[in-house]
Amino acid sequence: MSENNKQLQLRDSFGSKFGVIAAAAGSAVGLGNIWKFPYIAGIYGGAAFLFVYLAFIVAIGLPVMLSELIIGRGSRRNAFGAFKVLAPGTPWRYIGILGVSAAFLILSFYGVVAGWSVQYIVLSLENGFSNKTPDEISSLFATLIGSPIKPVLLQLFFMLLTGAIVIIGIKKGIEKYTKILMPVLVVILIFLCIKAVSLEGAKAGLLFLFKPDFSKLTGDGILSALGHAFFTLSLGMGTLITYGSYIKNDNNLVNTVINVTVADTVIAILAGVAIFPAVFAFGIEPSEGPGLIFVTLPNVFHQMPGGYIFSILFFVLLSVAALTSAISILEVVVAYFKEEFNMGRKASTVLATILISILGILCSLSMGVLSPYTFLGLNIFDLMDWISANLLLPIGGLFIALFVGWFLGRKKVKEEVAKGGSLSGIFLSAFLFLVKFIAPIAIAIVMLNKVGLLRF
Ligand code: PHE
Ligand code: NA
Repeated sequence: MSENNKQLQLRDSFGSKFGVIAAAAGSAVGLGNIWKFPYIAGIYGGAAFLFVYLAFIVAIGLPVMLSELIIGRGSRRNAFGAFKVLAPGTPWRYIGILGVSAAFLILSFYGVVAGWSVQYIVLSLENGFSNKTPDEISSLFATLIGSPIKPVLLQLFFMLLTGAIVIIGIKKGIEKYTKILMPVLVVILIFLCIKAVSLEGAKAGLLFLFKPDFSKLTGDGILSALGHAFFTLSLGMGTLITYGSYIKNDNNLVNTVINVTVADTVIAILAGVAIFPAVFAFGIEPSEGPGLIFVTLPNVFHQMPGGYIFSILFFVLLSVAALTSAISILEVVVAYFKEEFNMGRKASTVLATILISILGILCSLSMGVLSPYTFLGLNIFDLMDWISANLLLPIGGLFIALFVGWFLGRKKVKEEVAKGGSLSGIFLSAFLFLVKFIAPIAIAIVMLNKVGLLRF
């Protein structure tokens, strides 16, 4: 057996087709949908933002996701090694470096928010929101995130949990776990939506989310919609290259992409429906920022029958959704260390977890003691978020699209996609048109507009 084949056999892979969807959807559905989407939609005017975001999901998200899976499965390597296999001796590999760096930045602040979510499980168990006014609930959150010790410990706890699962490998455990928990998350969200919609004053929230006022849409808003389309689908940094490398050849990549994208989008919209009616009903500012869900939902919970249980369940599931995403981010770095530096899975997981946690501590402290340290007006937490989502992911996505469209080309794409399914001529042409032209040009325009080199 050749060295290459041996390595292939030793590589982990996902067990079932549904397991692939569960793992990829587990990566996609996370804090991005439930925490981030509502608050940035709130900042950039609601419905107008939603519509631009949806357009980006379809025109850019779908094709880039398919591109990543093609690169991953076609090479069976980590996000950096994949380009070395497919395009040896070319600079394309630097896309992989960009991706691994983005993984560092994203997981550093992601772990902090996940830590808050864990704390909200505890608060829910203690019935900590009952008899509190909306103002008190707001200051509860502000006090938590600004304190120097507690959120740091929570973040470290979450990172430890993430590392503990990744160190085991691509196990059926994760697949099974996500398969059960994701549907439960949807059910709880639907209940919350029903409750939120029946609140007095709910209509204003729904109008805010669904009735576009395009005059509110700024260049910043458009860039954020683009960045969020990448963030929410876990694109542009090699997560789906890495996961794709564990997908067996009989899997239909096109189906996987469609399922994951639909699941992610539906859950984000449900989160918006659960949150904006409550925002308006309780007189909270829609542009409240990162604290939005942590201050609106507790208000809803303690008003609804069974709110005690709902509150616990909700934050448990939010934490689980965060965990399945965090696992996929950490795996990008771990697979890279493992394959490029010939480290074992254990050593690479420990190293990656420690390095990211250190950066995470800084993110957490930047909400409190380190808040005076800013760059471009952003504290460390916001800076990590901004650079990764609005810069690294779209640039990564731009090059991934170009790579598949121009370098791999029609023949290789067709071959890879045909392995477990098929893509008829028209769709194949449409896909190639999107990755060769539409996605790269749209991304470039949005970014140039942002830096002021292009005005519209
Ligand atoms: N898609 C995840 C979410 O929405 C976040 C994520 C980003 C995961 C990038 C992997 C890679 O929460
Ligand atoms: Na998401």
